[in-house]
Amino acid sequence: MKATWTLPDGSTKTADVTAGTNLMEAAVANDIPQIEGACGGCLSCATCHIFVDADWLEKVGEVGDFEDAMLDATEVERTAASRLSCQIEMRAELDGISLTVPSE
Ligand code: FES
Repeated sequence: MKATWTLPDGSTKTADVTAGTNLMEAAVANDIPQIEGACGGCLSCATCHIFVDADWLEKVGEVGDFEDAMLDATEVERTAASRLSCQIEMRAELDGISLTVPSE
């Protein structure tokens, strides 16, 4: 399955992501800038903040309550498209998902 990130410089990077891998881990494994994943995915850092491209938001689903609270602590201000990528697990319906990395 594939995920594509639009980077702060406007370029894109596409990587293979195995089902069950979360999109923070996938970003770190593929050296996507700005996605730090400092807490390892335990919802306590917000350094995995990502904007989900509009076409994919519905499939990704609603923000969880705790995720919602953590999104208030992101470095770049949140929008309706903001998610914490450690909370998005790759699955068949997300194959091809497109994400934008917040710029600093
Ligand atoms: Fe820390 Fe996602 S990696 S909240």
